[in-house]
Amino acid sequence: MTEKSISPAASTSTSPAKAWSGRFSEPVSDLVKRYTASVFFDQRMATQDIQGSLAHAKMLARQGIIAAADLADIERGMAQIKGEIERGEFNWNLDDEDVHLNIEKRLTALVGDAGKRLHTGRSRNDQVATDIRLWLREAIDQILALIKAFQRQILIVAELHAATPLPGFTHLQVAQPVTFGHHLMAYYEMTRRDAERFADCRRRVNRLPLGAAALAGTSYPIDREFVAAELGFEDVCRNSLDAVSDRDFAIEFCAASALLMTHLSRLSEELILWMSPRVGFIDLTDGFCTGSSIMPQKKNPDVPELVRGKTGRVNGALVALLTLMKGQPLAYNKDNQEDKEPLFDTADTVIDTLRIYADMISGIRVKTDNMLDALSQGYATATDLADYLVKKGLPFRDAHEAVALAVRAAEITARQLPQFSLDELRTVMARVPGAADKLGQDVFAVLTIEGSLASRAHIGGTAPDTVRAAIARARAALD
Ligand code: ARG
Repeated sequence: MTEKSISPAASTSTSPAKAWSGRFSEPVSDLVKRYTASVFFDQRMATQDIQGSLAHAKMLARQGIIAAADLADIERGMAQIKGEIERGEFNWNLDDEDVHLNIEKRLTALVGDAGKRLHTGRSRNDQVATDIRLWLREAIDQILALIKAFQRQILIVAELHAATPLPGFTHLQVAQPVTFGHHLMAYYEMTRRDAERFADCRRRVNRLPLGAAALAGTSYPIDREFVAAELGFEDVCRNSLDAVSDRDFAIEFCAASALLMTHLSRLSEELILWMSPRVGFIDLTDGFCTGSSIMPQKKNPDVPELVRGKTGRVNGALVALLTLMKGQPLAYNKDNQEDKEPLFDTADTVIDTLRIYADMISGIRVKTDNMLDALSQGYATATDLADYLVKKGLPFRDAHEAVALAVRAAEITARQLPQFSLDELRTVMARVPGAADKLGQDVFAVLTIEGSLASRAHIGGTAPDTVRAAIARARAALD
């Protein structure tokens, strides 16, 4: 369904009457019509609109508010409309303002009076709130499945590299050895919390506004719980004013999306950095990169760069919805029509990003030699050396100072710590009382990267076996 399927508004004087135009004496200009219409974008909720109407009509018939024959007509008409929309044959009309009035008008054209009875005990205010919730619930389910698919790929690569040494950075300076698998598992944890947030948000999305009508409820003997059950809602909204007016559930969704995108933007930044020839830790397959129109040698990581960039638009949508809601008096205000485009755009962006990301991660080429080279250049086991001295009885601050002296000596002589002999280490640490005599031959085991990694075997640590256990636990949680 695209914008081009909208019939342009006819000139004002010949425009057909609007559903609400009875009390108006002056026609609405084409500009105002275009400005106030939402059918360009809310036709995306057509399926949900029909779904909601059918549940409402079924309830009306059950309660004896409309006749069984009316329900049958409504169901027949809606089946036809659904087909027309799916085949792209539906004539979306700007004069009918939004998805709700377009469908209702077509229904009435198809089935007559039964179509006019559908709106009994209902308003577009509770109707639109219901449609958005149905639409968003589906989007959340899709996102939850896509997060899992992303996590599965992370787990595959993390398992392959559970023992692959990588320099862990703080301040982008080599800090301590970690494994590449451990590093990737950090993103598993981030997205696990993202999934929790979406699932939690879904509970509050999944409540039924219908029955609130315009704002005050309705005098018909409706059965809201029946409609909720028909539509798979877990509960009904408990206050009619709140039900038609608040969009906090959409804001929560955008906040969860902004955090997910923020996490993916961090991973993207790392992929970009790692792919720079200066770093050379990974390569992305060509399908996720593009060349330059002027520099023949270039292979640019466009996809991660765009993920980083699109995080901005998702953050923007969150701010747009917060600002839209701020200061709105009860109950429904037309401001709320502006909730849809940021919401749709956010869901589209998150869904596309996750889809692309799972494939991108599965094709990543890991350059383990370069990771190891970078690690052996940064005195990454200096903390292990200090810990060794502490375990032999030296206070930590003294150990820190002794190792700092060793690092300085290494820098001056262009060596790495394991390249010192035991005597040399003792000599450079001599200025710190009690340090040199703590050193024994066993110090060289803790200066190795493997030793450093293996010693961090507590929960959350980077020891290869611990990383493998974390992956196994994650895999069990995913299945
Ligand atoms: N298109 C409107 C929206 O998106 C539907 C509700 C209109 N209600 C009204 N009272 N004008 O919010």
